[in-house]
Amino acid sequence: MQRVLVTGGAGFIGSHLTDLLLEHGYSVRILDNLSPQVHPDRQRPGYLTSHAQLVVGDVRDPEAVEHALKDVDMVVHLAAAVGVGQSMYEITSYCDTNDLGTAVLLQALSRNPVQRLVCASSMSVYGEGSARRPEGTVVSPPERSLAQLRRAAWDLTDADGAPLVPVPTAETKPPALNSVYALNKYNQERLCLIVGQAYTIPTVALRFFNVYGPRQALSNPYTGVLAIFAARLLHQRPPFVFEDGHQRRDFVHVSDVARACLLGLTTPQAAGQVFNIASGQSRTILSIATDLAVLMGCGQISPHVVGKYRAGDIRHCFADIDRARSVLGFSPAVEFRQGLEELSGWLADQVAVDNVEAATAELQSRGLVA
Ligand SMILES: NC(=O)c1ccc[n+]([C@@H]2O[C@H](COP(=O)([O-])OP(=O)(O)OC[C@H]3O[C@@H](n4cnc5c(N)ncnc54)[C@H](O)[C@@H]3O)[C@@H](O)[C@H]2O)c1
Repeated sequence: MQRVLVTGGAGFIGSHLTDLLLEHGYSVRILDNLSPQVHPDRQRPGYLTSHAQLVVGDVRDPEAVEHALKDVDMVVHLAAAVGVGQSMYEITSYCDTNDLGTAVLLQALSRNPVQRLVCASSMSVYGEGSARRPEGTVVSPPERSLAQLRRAAWDLTDADGAPLVPVPTAETKPPALNSVYALNKYNQERLCLIVGQAYTIPTVALRFFNVYGPRQALSNPYTGVLAIFAARLLHQRPPFVFEDGHQRRDFVHVSDVARACLLGLTTPQAAGQVFNIASGQSRTILSIATDLAVLMGCGQISPHVVGKYRAGDIRHCFADIDRARSVLGFSPAVEFRQGLEELSGWLADQVAVDNVEAATAELQSRGLVA
Protein backbone atom coordinates (compact mmCIF):
# COMPACT_ATOMS: atom_id res chain seq x y z
CA MET A 1 0.00 0.00 0.00
CA GLN A 2 1.39 3.41 -0.93
CA ARG A 3 1.63 6.06 1.76
CA VAL A 4 0.89 9.73 1.04
CA LEU A 5 1.93 12.55 3.35
CA VAL A 6 -0.57 15.42 3.23
CA THR A 7 0.80 18.57 4.87
CA GLY A 8 -2.04 20.75 6.13
CA GLY A 9 -4.26 17.66 5.86
CA ALA A 10 -6.40 18.63 8.86
CA GLY A 11 -7.66 21.66 6.96
CA PHE A 12 -10.49 22.12 4.50
CA ILE A 13 -9.04 20.76 1.25
CA GLY A 14 -6.65 18.34 2.98
CA SER A 15 -9.40 16.55 4.88
CA HIS A 16 -11.41 15.95 1.70
CA LEU A 17 -8.29 14.78 -0.11
CA THR A 18 -7.52 12.43 2.78
CA ASP A 19 -10.97 10.81 2.46
CA LEU A 20 -10.49 10.39 -1.28
CA LEU A 21 -6.99 8.90 -0.94
CA LEU A 22 -8.23 6.38 1.64
CA GLU A 23 -11.11 5.45 -0.68
CA HIS A 24 -8.53 4.76 -3.40
CA GLY A 25 -6.53 2.43 -1.19
CA TYR A 26 -3.70 4.74 -0.10
CA SER A 27 -2.54 5.07 3.46
CA VAL A 28 -2.48 8.70 4.63
CA ARG A 29 -0.29 10.53 7.10
CA ILE A 30 -1.04 14.17 7.88
CA LEU A 31 1.40 16.76 9.16
CA ASP A 32 -0.55 19.72 10.53
CA ASN A 33 0.13 22.15 13.38
CA LEU A 34 -3.61 22.74 13.96
CA SER A 35 -3.14 26.44 13.42
CA PRO A 36 -5.49 28.37 15.78
CA GLN A 37 -7.00 30.52 13.04
CA VAL A 38 -8.34 27.37 11.36
CA HIS A 39 -8.70 25.15 14.44
CA PRO A 40 -9.61 27.53 17.31
CA ASP A 41 -9.68 24.69 19.90
CA ARG A 42 -6.36 23.21 18.64
CA GLN A 43 -7.98 19.75 18.65
CA ARG A 44 -8.11 17.11 15.94
CA PRO A 45 -11.14 18.24 13.94
CA GLY A 46 -14.24 16.07 14.28
CA TYR A 47 -14.57 15.80 10.47
CA LEU A 48 -11.12 14.24 10.12
CA THR A 49 -11.33 10.49 9.56
CA SER A 50 -9.80 8.29 12.24
CA HIS A 51 -8.27 6.17 9.44
CA ALA A 52 -5.62 8.80 8.78
CA GLN A 53 -2.56 9.20 10.97
CA LEU A 54 -2.30 12.77 12.26
CA VAL A 55 1.16 14.00 13.25
CA VAL A 56 0.71 17.33 15.02
CA GLY A 57 3.73 19.32 13.95
CA ASP A 58 4.93 22.28 11.99
CA VAL A 59 6.25 22.27 8.41
CA ARG A 60 8.87 24.77 9.56
CA ASP A 61 10.30 22.24 12.01
CA PRO A 62 12.95 20.09 10.26
CA GLU A 63 12.68 17.28 12.82
CA ALA A 64 8.89 17.10 12.59
CA VAL A 65 9.11 17.04 8.78
CA GLU A 66 11.83 14.36 8.76
CA HIS A 67 9.74 12.22 11.09
CA ALA A 68 6.55 12.73 9.03
CA LEU A 69 8.34 11.75 5.79
CA LYS A 70 9.46 8.35 7.08
CA ASP A 71 8.30 5.58 4.70
CA VAL A 72 6.27 7.99 2.62
CA ASP A 73 5.93 7.42 -1.17
CA MET A 74 4.27 10.69 -2.24
CA VAL A 75 3.64 14.14 -0.78
CA VAL A 76 0.83 16.68 -1.22
CA HIS A 77 1.91 20.02 0.22
CA LEU A 78 -1.13 22.00 1.33
CA ALA A 79 0.03 23.49 4.66
CA ALA A 80 -0.04 27.27 4.41
CA ALA A 81 -1.19 30.49 5.95
CA VAL A 82 -4.10 31.38 3.66
CA GLY A 83 -5.47 34.89 3.17
CA VAL A 84 -4.65 37.78 0.86
CA GLY A 85 -5.69 40.64 3.19
CA GLN A 86 -4.04 39.22 6.30
CA SER A 87 -0.83 38.52 4.42
CA MET A 88 -0.48 42.28 3.89
CA TYR A 89 0.14 42.92 7.59
CA GLU A 90 1.26 39.55 9.01
CA ILE A 91 4.16 39.60 6.61
CA THR A 92 6.71 37.73 8.71
CA SER A 93 4.31 35.01 9.66
CA TYR A 94 3.11 34.48 6.05
CA CYS A 95 6.65 34.31 4.67
CA ASP A 96 7.70 32.09 7.54
CA THR A 97 4.92 29.52 7.13
CA ASN A 98 4.64 29.59 3.37
CA ASP A 99 8.19 30.20 2.13
CA LEU A 100 10.29 28.78 4.94
CA GLY A 101 7.84 25.90 5.53
CA THR A 102 8.13 24.87 1.88
CA ALA A 103 11.91 25.22 1.98
CA VAL A 104 12.15 22.98 5.05
CA LEU A 105 9.98 20.34 3.38
CA LEU A 106 12.08 20.46 0.21
CA GLN A 107 15.34 20.30 2.15
CA ALA A 108 14.11 17.05 3.70
CA LEU A 109 12.88 15.74 0.33
CA SER A 110 16.29 16.47 -1.24
CA ARG A 111 17.74 13.91 1.17
CA ASN A 112 14.88 11.42 0.78
CA PRO A 113 13.21 11.92 -2.60
CA VAL A 114 9.67 10.62 -3.06
CA GLN A 115 7.89 9.30 -6.16
CA ARG A 116 5.76 12.42 -6.56
CA LEU A 117 5.14 15.86 -5.08
CA VAL A 118 1.96 17.88 -5.58
CA CYS A 119 1.99 21.46 -4.38
CA ALA A 120 -1.02 23.76 -3.81
CA SER A 121 -0.59 27.05 -5.61
CA SER A 122 -3.27 29.64 -6.19
CA MET A 123 -5.04 31.79 -8.76
CA SER A 124 -3.65 34.74 -6.79
CA VAL A 125 -0.38 34.39 -8.73
CA TYR A 126 -2.11 35.87 -11.80
CA GLY A 127 -3.10 39.17 -10.23
CA GLU A 128 -5.70 40.54 -12.63
CA GLY A 129 -7.01 37.82 -14.93
CA SER A 130 -6.61 38.10 -18.71
CA ALA A 131 -8.81 40.59 -20.56
CA ARG A 132 -9.71 41.52 -24.13
CA ARG A 133 -9.20 44.96 -25.65
CA PRO A 134 -12.00 46.41 -27.79
CA GLU A 135 -10.23 45.39 -31.02
CA GLY A 136 -9.88 41.80 -29.81
CA THR A 137 -6.31 41.45 -28.50
CA VAL A 138 -6.02 39.54 -25.22
CA VAL A 139 -3.84 41.37 -22.69
CA SER A 140 -2.55 41.06 -19.11
CA PRO A 141 -4.16 44.09 -17.46
CA PRO A 142 -1.98 46.14 -15.13
CA GLU A 143 -2.97 46.62 -11.49
CA ARG A 144 -5.61 49.29 -11.03
CA SER A 145 -4.15 52.58 -9.81
CA LEU A 146 -4.87 53.93 -6.36
CA ALA A 147 -6.36 57.05 -7.93
CA GLN A 148 -8.77 54.92 -9.96
CA LEU A 149 -9.80 52.89 -6.92
CA ARG A 150 -10.31 56.04 -4.85
CA ARG A 151 -12.70 57.26 -7.56
CA ALA A 152 -14.59 53.95 -7.21
CA ALA A 153 -13.89 53.35 -10.90
CA TRP A 154 -13.65 49.60 -10.35
CA ASP A 155 -13.55 48.28 -13.89
CA LEU A 156 -10.42 47.67 -15.90
CA THR A 157 -9.55 49.92 -18.78
CA ASP A 158 -6.60 50.04 -21.15
CA ALA A 159 -4.20 52.98 -21.31
CA ASP A 160 -6.65 54.95 -23.51
CA GLY A 161 -9.53 54.43 -21.10
CA ALA A 162 -11.25 51.84 -23.32
CA PRO A 163 -12.99 49.09 -21.34
CA LEU A 164 -11.28 45.71 -21.00
CA VAL A 165 -13.53 42.65 -21.04
CA PRO A 166 -12.43 39.80 -18.74
CA VAL A 167 -11.72 36.45 -20.44
CA PRO A 168 -10.63 33.06 -19.03
CA THR A 169 -7.07 33.06 -17.72
CA ALA A 170 -4.72 30.31 -18.88
CA GLU A 171 -1.49 29.10 -17.25
CA THR A 172 0.45 30.94 -19.95
CA LYS A 173 -0.49 34.32 -18.48
CA PRO A 174 2.62 35.74 -16.77
CA PRO A 175 2.29 36.05 -13.00
CA ALA A 176 1.48 39.49 -11.57
CA LEU A 177 2.12 39.29 -7.86
CA ASN A 178 0.33 41.98 -5.90
CA SER A 179 0.03 40.57 -2.39
CA VAL A 180 2.39 38.87 0.04
CA TYR A 181 0.24 35.74 -0.19
CA ALA A 182 0.44 35.73 -4.01
CA LEU A 183 4.22 36.04 -3.83
CA ASN A 184 4.33 33.22 -1.26
CA LYS A 185 2.23 30.92 -3.45
CA TYR A 186 4.39 31.63 -6.48
CA ASN A 187 7.52 30.98 -4.43
CA GLN A 188 6.03 27.72 -3.21
CA GLU A 189 5.23 26.46 -6.69
CA ARG A 190 8.59 27.52 -8.17
CA LEU A 191 10.56 26.09 -5.24
CA CYS A 192 8.75 22.76 -5.56
CA LEU A 193 9.22 22.60 -9.34
CA ILE A 194 12.90 23.62 -9.20
CA VAL A 195 13.86 21.23 -6.41
CA GLY A 196 11.64 18.51 -7.86
CA GLN A 197 13.48 18.69 -11.16
CA ALA A 198 16.93 18.77 -9.54
CA TYR A 199 16.24 15.69 -7.39
CA THR A 200 14.13 13.78 -9.93
CA ILE A 201 10.95 14.09 -7.92
CA PRO A 202 8.11 14.38 -10.46
CA THR A 203 6.35 17.52 -9.26
CA VAL A 204 3.03 19.11 -10.11
CA ALA A 205 1.76 22.54 -9.04
CA LEU A 206 -2.00 23.09 -8.93
CA ARG A 207 -3.34 26.64 -9.02
CA PHE A 208 -6.63 26.41 -7.17
CA PHE A 209 -9.24 29.08 -7.81
CA ASN A 210 -11.96 29.85 -5.20
CA VAL A 211 -12.57 26.55 -3.45
CA TYR A 212 -15.82 26.07 -1.55
CA GLY A 213 -17.68 23.31 0.26
CA PRO A 214 -18.29 21.79 3.69
CA ARG A 215 -15.55 21.97 6.39
CA GLN A 216 -14.16 25.35 5.35
CA ALA A 217 -13.27 27.16 8.60
CA LEU A 218 -16.14 29.51 9.42
CA SER A 219 -14.05 31.15 12.14
CA ASN A 220 -11.42 32.37 9.68
CA PRO A 221 -12.40 35.81 8.37
CA TYR A 222 -9.50 36.00 5.92
CA THR A 223 -10.17 33.20 3.47
CA GLY A 224 -13.00 31.46 1.67
CA VAL A 225 -15.47 34.10 0.58
CA LEU A 226 -18.48 31.76 0.80
CA ALA A 227 -17.49 30.65 4.31
CA ILE A 228 -17.07 34.31 5.31
CA PHE A 229 -20.52 35.16 3.95
CA ALA A 230 -21.97 32.13 5.69
CA ALA A 231 -20.48 33.13 9.05
CA ARG A 232 -22.30 36.49 8.73
CA LEU A 233 -25.59 34.97 7.58
CA LEU A 234 -25.60 32.40 10.39
CA HIS A 235 -25.75 35.44 12.71
CA GLN A 236 -28.51 37.02 10.61
CA ARG A 237 -26.05 39.73 9.52
CA PRO A 238 -25.46 40.91 5.95
CA PRO A 239 -22.33 39.74 4.16
CA PHE A 240 -19.87 42.54 3.34
CA VAL A 241 -19.27 42.79 -0.40
CA PHE A 242 -16.32 44.95 -1.43
CA GLU A 243 -16.24 47.32 -4.42
CA ASP A 244 -19.60 47.08 -6.25
CA GLY A 245 -19.90 43.30 -6.07
CA HIS A 246 -19.54 42.82 -9.82
CA GLN A 247 -16.03 41.42 -9.61
CA ARG A 248 -15.94 37.91 -11.13
CA ARG A 249 -14.41 34.76 -9.68
CA ASP A 250 -14.36 31.04 -10.43
CA PHE A 251 -15.82 28.76 -7.73
CA VAL A 252 -14.72 25.15 -7.67
CA HIS A 253 -16.12 22.50 -5.33
CA VAL A 254 -13.71 20.98 -2.84
CA SER A 255 -14.43 17.42 -4.05
CA ASP A 256 -13.31 18.44 -7.55
CA VAL A 257 -10.14 19.93 -6.07
CA ALA A 258 -9.46 16.74 -4.11
CA ARG A 259 -9.85 14.76 -7.36
CA ALA A 260 -7.44 17.11 -9.10
CA CYS A 261 -4.85 16.43 -6.37
CA LEU A 262 -5.27 12.69 -6.88
CA LEU A 263 -4.84 13.16 -10.64
CA GLY A 264 -1.74 15.22 -9.90
CA LEU A 265 -0.33 12.26 -7.96
CA THR A 266 -1.16 9.65 -10.57
CA THR A 267 -0.81 11.24 -14.02
CA PRO A 268 2.74 10.61 -15.29
CA GLN A 269 2.65 13.25 -18.04
CA ALA A 270 1.68 15.98 -15.53
CA ALA A 271 5.15 16.10 -13.99
CA GLY A 272 6.90 19.45 -14.12
CA GLN A 273 3.76 21.40 -15.03
CA VAL A 274 1.33 23.88 -13.45
CA PHE A 275 -2.43 23.53 -13.85
CA ASN A 276 -5.44 25.72 -13.20
CA ILE A 277 -7.92 23.85 -11.04
CA ALA A 278 -11.29 25.54 -11.30
CA SER A 279 -14.79 25.17 -12.68
CA GLY A 280 -14.08 27.18 -15.84
CA GLN A 281 -17.15 29.34 -15.11
CA SER A 282 -17.35 32.81 -13.64
CA ARG A 283 -19.78 34.38 -11.17
CA THR A 284 -20.01 37.78 -9.53
CA ILE A 285 -19.37 38.04 -5.81
CA LEU A 286 -22.69 39.84 -5.37
CA SER A 287 -24.61 37.02 -7.04
CA ILE A 288 -23.05 34.33 -4.87
CA ALA A 289 -23.78 36.34 -1.69
CA THR A 290 -27.42 36.62 -2.73
CA ASP A 291 -27.71 32.97 -3.80
CA LEU A 292 -26.23 31.75 -0.53
CA ALA A 293 -28.54 33.95 1.55
CA VAL A 294 -31.58 32.55 -0.26
CA LEU A 295 -30.47 28.93 0.16
CA MET A 296 -29.77 29.51 3.86
CA GLY A 297 -33.30 30.81 4.29
CA CYS A 298 -32.18 34.43 4.83
CA GLY A 299 -33.24 35.81 1.46
CA GLN A 300 -34.50 38.94 3.24
CA ILE A 301 -30.88 39.86 4.17
CA SER A 302 -29.33 41.81 1.32
CA PRO A 303 -25.56 41.86 1.07
CA HIS A 304 -23.98 45.10 2.27
CA VAL A 305 -22.10 46.49 -0.74
CA VAL A 306 -19.43 48.56 0.98
CA GLY A 307 -18.06 50.41 -2.06
CA LYS A 308 -14.49 50.08 -0.75
CA TYR A 309 -11.51 48.10 -1.96
CA ARG A 310 -8.92 45.98 -0.17
CA ALA A 311 -5.20 46.21 -0.84
CA GLY A 312 -4.12 43.24 -2.94
CA ASP A 313 -7.59 42.57 -4.35
CA ILE A 314 -8.14 42.16 -8.07
CA ARG A 315 -11.18 42.85 -10.23
CA HIS A 316 -11.70 39.63 -12.17
CA CYS A 317 -10.07 36.26 -12.47
CA PHE A 318 -11.58 33.02 -13.74
CA ALA A 319 -9.92 30.05 -15.29
CA ASP A 320 -9.24 28.47 -18.61
CA ILE A 321 -9.04 24.79 -17.61
CA ASP A 322 -8.12 23.29 -20.99
CA ARG A 323 -4.67 22.18 -19.84
CA ALA A 324 -6.06 20.37 -16.78
CA ARG A 325 -8.71 18.74 -18.98
CA SER A 326 -6.28 17.52 -21.63
CA VAL A 327 -3.24 16.53 -19.52
CA LEU A 328 -4.79 15.52 -16.18
CA GLY A 329 -8.13 14.37 -17.54
CA PHE A 330 -9.70 16.76 -15.01
CA SER A 331 -13.35 17.59 -15.42
CA PRO A 332 -15.26 19.46 -12.70
CA ALA A 333 -18.21 17.31 -11.65
CA VAL A 334 -20.10 19.48 -9.17
CA GLU A 335 -22.39 22.07 -10.68
CA PHE A 336 -22.38 25.33 -8.67
CA ARG A 337 -26.06 25.25 -7.69
CA GLN A 338 -25.75 21.67 -6.46
CA GLY A 339 -22.57 22.53 -4.51
CA LEU A 340 -24.19 25.56 -2.93
CA GLU A 341 -27.22 23.52 -1.85
CA GLU A 342 -24.94 20.95 -0.24
CA LEU A 343 -23.00 23.75 1.47
CA SER A 344 -26.14 25.32 2.89
CA GLY A 345 -27.26 21.88 4.17
CA TRP A 346 -23.97 21.52 6.02
CA LEU A 347 -24.17 25.09 7.34
CA ALA A 348 -27.53 24.37 8.96
CA ASP A 349 -25.74 22.35 11.68
CA GLN A 350 -22.80 24.71 12.16
CA VAL A 351 -22.10 27.24 14.85
CA ALA A 352 -19.93 30.05 13.52
CA VAL A 353 -17.95 32.75 15.22
CA ASP A 354 -18.37 35.91 13.17
CA ASN A 355 -14.93 37.55 13.16
CA VAL A 356 -15.56 39.48 9.96
CA GLU A 357 -16.12 42.95 11.44
CA ALA A 358 -13.00 42.70 13.61
CA ALA A 359 -10.93 41.54 10.62
CA THR A 360 -12.25 44.36 8.44
CA ALA A 361 -11.52 46.90 11.19
CA GLU A 362 -7.99 45.50 11.46
CA LEU A 363 -7.42 45.98 7.72
CA GLN A 364 -8.99 49.44 7.88
CA SER A 365 -6.80 50.57 10.77
CA ARG A 366 -3.75 49.74 8.64
CA GLY A 367 -5.04 51.60 5.61
CA LEU A 368 -5.56 48.31 3.74
CA VAL A 369 -9.25 49.01 3.10
CA ALA A 370 -10.20 52.37 1.62
N1 LIG B 1 -9.35 27.38 -0.13
C1 LIG B 1 -9.07 28.02 -1.27
O1 LIG B 1 -9.95 28.67 -1.88
C2 LIG B 1 -7.68 27.97 -1.84
C3 LIG B 1 -7.45 28.62 -3.06
C4 LIG B 1 -6.16 28.60 -3.60
C5 LIG B 1 -5.16 27.91 -2.96
N2 LIG B 1 -5.41 27.29 -1.77
C6 LIG B 1 -4.30 26.59 -1.12
O2 LIG B 1 -4.71 25.28 -0.76
C7 LIG B 1 -4.05 24.87 0.43
C8 LIG B 1 -5.07 24.36 1.44
O3 LIG B 1 -5.98 25.41 1.71
P1 LIG B 1 -7.26 25.21 2.64
O4 LIG B 1 -8.33 26.05 2.07
O5 LIG B 1 -7.51 23.76 2.89
O6 LIG B 1 -6.76 25.92 3.96
P2 LIG B 1 -6.98 25.55 5.50
O7 LIG B 1 -6.57 26.76 6.26
O8 LIG B 1 -8.31 24.96 5.73
O9 LIG B 1 -5.92 24.39 5.73
C9 LIG B 1 -4.55 24.63 5.89
C10 LIG B 1 -4.05 23.68 6.96
O10 LIG B 1 -2.65 23.92 7.10
C11 LIG B 1 -2.34 23.88 8.48
N3 LIG B 1 -1.14 24.68 8.71
C12 LIG B 1 -1.00 26.03 8.67
N4 LIG B 1 0.26 26.38 8.97
C13 LIG B 1 0.94 25.22 9.18
C14 LIG B 1 2.28 24.92 9.56
N5 LIG B 1 3.18 25.89 9.77
N6 LIG B 1 2.64 23.62 9.71
C15 LIG B 1 1.72 22.63 9.52
N7 LIG B 1 0.44 22.85 9.18
C16 LIG B 1 0.06 24.13 9.02
C17 LIG B 1 -3.57 24.47 9.18
O11 LIG B 1 -3.65 24.06 10.53
C18 LIG B 1 -4.69 23.92 8.31
O12 LIG B 1 -5.20 22.71 8.84
C19 LIG B 1 -3.23 26.07 0.89
O13 LIG B 1 -1.91 25.88 0.46
C20 LIG B 1 -3.85 27.24 0.17
O14 LIG B 1 -2.91 28.28 -0.06
C21 LIG B 1 -6.65 27.32 -1.20
